[in-house]
Amino acid sequence: MSPIIFLKKYSAGRKTFLVALFSAIFLSPSVSIKLLSQGTKIDLTLSDSKIDIIISGMSLEEKIAMLHGNGMFSSAGISRLGIPEMKYTDGPFGIREELEKNSWNSLRLTTDSATFFPTGSALAATWSPDLAYLLGNALGEEAKIRGKDVLLGPAVNITRVPTGGRTFEYLSEDPFLNARLTVGYIKGVQDRGVGACVKHFALNNQETNRGRVNVIVDERTMREIYLPPFEAAVKEANVFAVMAAYNKIAGSWCSEDGDLLNRILKKEWGFNGLVVSDWGGTHSTVKAAIGGLDVEMGTSGSAFFGQALIDSVKAGHVPIEVINEKVRRILRVRFAVEPVSETKTGAVVSTPEHGKIAYQVASHSIVLLKNASHILPVDLNKVRSIAVIGENATRKFASGGFGAGVKTRYEVTPLEGLQRKIGNKISIKFAQGYKSSFIQNHQSGGRRLPNNAVDSVLLKEAVQLAKNSDITIIFAGTNREFESESSDRPDLKLPYGQDNLISAVTAVNPKTIVVLVAAAPLDLNNAENSSPALLISWFNGSEGGNALADVILGNVNPSGKLPFTFPASLSDSPAFSLGTFPGDNNAYYKEESLVGYRWFDTKNIKPLFPFGFGLSYTGFSYSGIKTDKLKYRSNETIQVTLELKNTGKMNGDEVVQLYVHRLNSQVEWPEKELKGFTRVSLNPGESKKVTISLPVSQLRYWDAKIHDWRLESGKIQVMIGSSSSDIRLVKNIEI
Ligand code: BGC
Repeated sequence: MSPIIFLKKYSAGRKTFLVALFSAIFLSPSVSIKLLSQGTKIDLTLSDSKIDIIISGMSLEEKIAMLHGNGMFSSAGISRLGIPEMKYTDGPFGIREELEKNSWNSLRLTTDSATFFPTGSALAATWSPDLAYLLGNALGEEAKIRGKDVLLGPAVNITRVPTGGRTFEYLSEDPFLNARLTVGYIKGVQDRGVGACVKHFALNNQETNRGRVNVIVDERTMREIYLPPFEAAVKEANVFAVMAAYNKIAGSWCSEDGDLLNRILKKEWGFNGLVVSDWGGTHSTVKAAIGGLDVEMGTSGSAFFGQALIDSVKAGHVPIEVINEKVRRILRVRFAVEPVSETKTGAVVSTPEHGKIAYQVASHSIVLLKNASHILPVDLNKVRSIAVIGENATRKFASGGFGAGVKTRYEVTPLEGLQRKIGNKISIKFAQGYKSSFIQNHQSGGRRLPNNAVDSVLLKEAVQLAKNSDITIIFAGTNREFESESSDRPDLKLPYGQDNLISAVTAVNPKTIVVLVAAAPLDLNNAENSSPALLISWFNGSEGGNALADVILGNVNPSGKLPFTFPASLSDSPAFSLGTFPGDNNAYYKEESLVGYRWFDTKNIKPLFPFGFGLSYTGFSYSGIKTDKLKYRSNETIQVTLELKNTGKMNGDEVVQLYVHRLNSQVEWPEKELKGFTRVSLNPGESKKVTISLPVSQLRYWDAKIHDWRLESGKIQVMIGSSSSDIRLVKNIEI
């Protein structure tokens, strides 16, 4: 069979599959969270014998043309054989607008708007792999309609420092939660016949000096904390592509580190897809080629994998089999992804169905941090006037700052959301309250810092409005200029003088609710002291304002849980406490595996809000913990059951969390670690039996002496909680 005929046949098969999938989704009456969570495992090596026939007929130049960008977001196919180029798109929370082929300049099209989906930390706050699947699936469909083959997402680096600039794109400080969401997201994307590209591999945990920082981390920490989301992406979700990170590990650039790319990723985990560099993240020709990088992207003139690579092969520095293997990996992905033509004018990318999915994620992600005397939800029968204060009430979050954004078809702001839901029933008045702006700080290397000076005119106006209103809602927080790729935040402070605003407004109107529109930990000490109610609503996508209004008005019961710790003070958090952040050339991960709540719990430091925390308008009682046995072997699974009851008057979801604590271990462990969770919906008064499965293999540790996973026998305390600090049930078992 000729390669071209083979390609056509393969495409036809994929098309039938996609049509079936498409009908399954859109012919169903409503979008249900549980609809499609299986994922389709595509064996990338299925067509290897055919691919090898193609490779045997290719010239060296043809092969190497495939190994680097032929544009900012594409790499070449084989035109002689009718094999199309590969098109990439950012990711991870919406399909990026179309750019000129060879630059970052926008093409200024009117046909490339997309849905803005909630960003990484919002998705993580849902604690729902099913929602991650739905979000990924909708993104995959939009990528497909826009003619893209590989979506540059999910972004799954661990939130090591609370000030990290890309915390909004990333998921969590916990590898288990992170891995579960990563798998859901990737399966969703790939079920649409688009490859996902998990990024940034690995240890890209800070933006400060990201292009040169050298991470020094011990082997056990790397395996247990930083690699699990990537490992799950490969082994469980069969991800098609992996992006090598900008930074170095132990002196070697990630994009040329044979240990990371060849030994761990490709050999040990069995990754069959392609490794692409981060944009401009390639540093050598021979080393990167031998070290396992397959495609160089974002380097102007394809500096390393172009002519330089042809010359290196001819000079005998890079064996031809190394090149063939790279082409093989690219063709595997190429044949697994049906090529589609460029955007057709008028094609609807961002559909109402996708809006519903964005809404579902947003409405499950909002976290209620405080609700003294049940001031929330707002009872419209008891209120005649609402003061809406703060720039974030009218601000949009789809783009801004450095890096990927979405030219969104629409984005409902918090103020619009409230106006839509409340209508003319009561008076809603707006005052800006503060103004976001930045100053250049020469002492910090020209870094842009927020201008924290209070705007006294705006403040006075806000105070006046609050005084004359029944209740006040302050929309504070950050924005996409401040939380951004390529720089970390200087500290956790609420920027632009917002703490002064919160103090002044709450002083004149004690019925003031503070809503944080922000996607990372913040210092909320003052807000928490001053205000009776606090909500956090992330960078929550096109439907963010609608979801937020529904939570404020009680149409939706909040059920999000924090995917990271909010420290009481930045100096309490591990890397700051040990003085290892940001490092200069070297970043020493001295806290080892004590990242996030692992540190706070082990060191007995009380955070402001713990990992996994989130309140509800109803209450939940936990009882009757049982395990199916008391002693387990290495290949068994622990079944933990309990009764969960909704004790309040409103239906609601609770995220039940399972942590483990080692009782008599010879090995050092964090105080507790998340090993399971599930989201449960209950009507008022309803009880449900909840089961969480914990495979004993999840309890292993990485033994650096034997360079492998090892199970330690002994006693383990299984803990069931509503957050990492609110453990309700405990049961001991033995391994
Ligand atoms: C980012 C990647 C992104 C790439 C292309 C890089 O700066 O680190 O996450 O996919 O640019 O936009």
